[in-house]
Amino acid sequence: MKRKIVPVVMVLVALLLVPCGAFAAEKKGLLVYDSIYGSTVEVAYWIKAIIGIEHQLDVKTIPQVITLEPYDYIILGSATRNEGPLKRMHEFIEANRSVLATKELCFFLVCGDSDETQVLKVPGKEAHLIAGRNYMQPIYQRYPELKYTCIAGFGGRQVMASLGLTDRLQIKLLEKLAKEGAIWIGFDIWESLVVERVEAFANEVRVKVLGLQPRENVEQFRGYWQSLQPANLKDPSMGKFKRKPWTERVDTKKLFYTRSRIKGDLDPTIAMLETWARKNGYDLRVQVKTFFNVYYHAAKTYGGKERIIHIVPSTMPEDPGTVHISFRSYDKPEERAEVQKDIEAAEALLWANGRKLP
Ligand SMILES: Cc1cc2nc3c(=O)[nH]c(=O)nc-3n(C[C@H](O)[C@H](O)[C@H](O)COP(=O)(O)O)c2cc1C
Repeated sequence: MKRKIVPVVMVLVALLLVPCGAFAAEKKGLLVYDSIYGSTVEVAYWIKAIIGIEHQLDVKTIPQVITLEPYDYIILGSATRNEGPLKRMHEFIEANRSVLATKELCFFLVCGDSDETQVLKVPGKEAHLIAGRNYMQPIYQRYPELKYTCIAGFGGRQVMASLGLTDRLQIKLLEKLAKEGAIWIGFDIWESLVVERVEAFANEVRVKVLGLQPRENVEQFRGYWQSLQPANLKDPSMGKFKRKPWTERVDTKKLFYTRSRIKGDLDPTIAMLETWARKNGYDLRVQVKTFFNVYYHAAKTYGGKERIIHIVPSTMPEDPGTVHISFRSYDKPEERAEVQKDIEAAEALLWANGRKLP
């Protein structure tokens, strides 16, 4: 008799504990955003929809937040200015950094440039890595104690007619100075946002922060972003979003630039670049290294001068199982023949064995 009672009691205790455990596990979240022209707001509510309105996630603009205490996790989201989050987002982090350090954090940026293999050179500034998640660098440097479970840089939207005077002047100046030109010229509305990145980020929060399954059929939520607003009032055929080409070769007076993508992972790509550098006499100097990309200066002296090739292999959230690689030389055309030949040799190695993708 006693033998039968013990297992029955154990089953009853287990049945009572299971639902308590399930309820206790639910984490409470806060998404704090900062936006100037509104696109980051749309993205914030889109992320909430994919995470699921059945889960507690308050969405608030900075002045609406009086405390972070009730939350287990916090998603910070900001528009991008001058290659980093907005000033007010920095102030918010600074004011709350000791509390933020105790919370689980995620960070997303809404930005114009989304190609994470991109290097920018403008007069008066060293060439440097820009775009998407690369804009997290100032955040890492200023608040090294903060760690992030998920980060993303989605791209964004620029509504040209709405830009304030100083913003318009700054954008015009960039159009003139950027050696690679400006992709938004000719648009009334220009969008660079990669929708799959928003979906991947929200699902990463579901999986890594909330311990849920990724949501399927996420395309149903794209209405939070897409609209009937045209790209150009005079040209109805024009699309607002045109993906930056995955394969490109630009040869101008100011720049030699190639970009391609291959099947594979970051580590084997790095190994191939190291082999190429050794064989061709380049000193491969790491400028920035993250979990998703590396920015190298490949240096070699010839013609009495040190030549630098800027190389960035990067994985992309929207293109899994591939690595995108850019090469840039800012030497003058008459001085860069050897550099171009060496870049072609690097590409031949990377593209071999059917790895090259269109
Ligand atoms: C003056 C100005 C500076 C900008 N600087 C950058 C920048 O450095 N990098 C970038 O990728 N995007 C930059 N952008 C693009 C914005 O981050 C992008 O349009 C974003 O979607 C705006 O978000 P919001 O609508 O929430 O304000 C800039 C836009 C303006 C108007």
